[in-house]
Amino acid sequence: MNRLDLFPISTSIENDSLTIAGHSLASLADLYGTPLYLYDRATLDVSAKAYTDALAAHYPAPSRVTYAGKAFLCKAIAAWTQTHGFFVDCTGEGEIGIAVAGGVPREHILVHGVNKSLADLKSALHTAGTIVIDNLVELECIQSLMTSYQSPPSLWLRLLPGVAVHTHHAHTQTGQHDSKFGMTPDEIFAAARFCQENRLPLSGIHFHQGSNFRDPEPLLPAIDLALDLAREIGFSDEWHCCPGGGWGVAYHEDELPHPSIESYVRGIAEAVIEGCKARGLSLPTLHLEPGRSLVARAGVALYRVGVVKRRGDKTWLLTDGGMADHPRFALYGARYSCLPVQAPGRERGERVSIAGPYCESGDVIIENLPMPRVEIGELIAVPVSGAYHLSMSSNYNGARRPAVVLLGEGSAELIQRRETLEDLLRRDVSPDRG
Ligand SMILES: Cc1ncc(COP(=O)(O)O)c(C=O)c1O
Repeated sequence: MNRLDLFPISTSIENDSLTIAGHSLASLADLYGTPLYLYDRATLDVSAKAYTDALAAHYPAPSRVTYAGKAFLCKAIAAWTQTHGFFVDCTGEGEIGIAVAGGVPREHILVHGVNKSLADLKSALHTAGTIVIDNLVELECIQSLMTSYQSPPSLWLRLLPGVAVHTHHAHTQTGQHDSKFGMTPDEIFAAARFCQENRLPLSGIHFHQGSNFRDPEPLLPAIDLALDLAREIGFSDEWHCCPGGGWGVAYHEDELPHPSIESYVRGIAEAVIEGCKARGLSLPTLHLEPGRSLVARAGVALYRVGVVKRRGDKTWLLTDGGMADHPRFALYGARYSCLPVQAPGRERGERVSIAGPYCESGDVIIENLPMPRVEIGELIAVPVSGAYHLSMSSNYNGARRPAVVLLGEGSAELIQRRETLEDLLRRDVSPDRG
């Protein structure tokens, strides 16, 4: 595929320089500094609509999209989810707090977590519409707390299906038999019995097999297992089924194009419809839980090159951002691509590795990428940077998290300011020595 096609849909080249939604990336860098994260509103909306349209077209019963907030959550993104009527998947008290601050109503807050703390559980009981129970210990704890809450959330059980999707790295698989997530079928039965005995509001089953996959095949046995369990548990009217999220995106021009959201949704819808029919089950409300496929392509990371080291056949471009905001290469060798902001169509005459300013050899963004000859002071733009960057970012080496700007035609809204030295010191309790 063409490298430019990795970028947000409203990207174009004007006056030989990259723009998004009509905004010059060079001007945005001048205004807000670098590293800078840009989100394209049009790309966000198109991917959201792809999910809702596909569900409406292929699933005849009620359905919902839940945005997996772990991909990137801030108040503006939380508010954006509500323009599409989405649920928001929050892992724990912190993400719940951000969702609430962004105006997500109780009935749209769904809480996940593999080892939820007491504070997480209390916050979920107080604020959420749905809690996905990961294990029996959590369920017992919920039961002991529940009596204090007047309108407690609905409970779903997280199934460990024992089959993972194919992802590019084992660390992004969650459905395999030895995963730390969810409950085995026997544990699910025990949890369902516990709910029935204690009159807990159990209404759904959930599983999530991994993140960034393109082959939906492994979803089918997991859907079958979930439906078998639903029948055994005795779900009848008004029950919920969620086969998680994880649909992939293209990060590099060597990959096939961005996979179709429509075909993914259709495949799941057909499997659920047929599976329910075969088992005499009523159709559940079908929930999908995408993160990456909603926000990854909308995001672009903008860096300035400060140093170029050309040594024999190795060229390093050293930028002002790296693993502190762009951790996926360091975490699991994720591949990315890149364009210079000025004259992006220049001939790609050399292979470069792009690394950050941090004191780790693993502080690399991209390895061995054909690029035009980039010089010191140039801006480079890394596409598909909208998911699992800022949400996994750190203050390593005193890094201050980048500013984030949401771009629409005719609007550029600063949705997160750059962190400051004051932010870095805010939690320290040692005496101020002036
Ligand atoms: C429970 C759950 N749901 C949904 C997702 C979203 O995955 P993705 O962003 O790949 O769609 C994740 C990601 O890890 C997850 O753990």
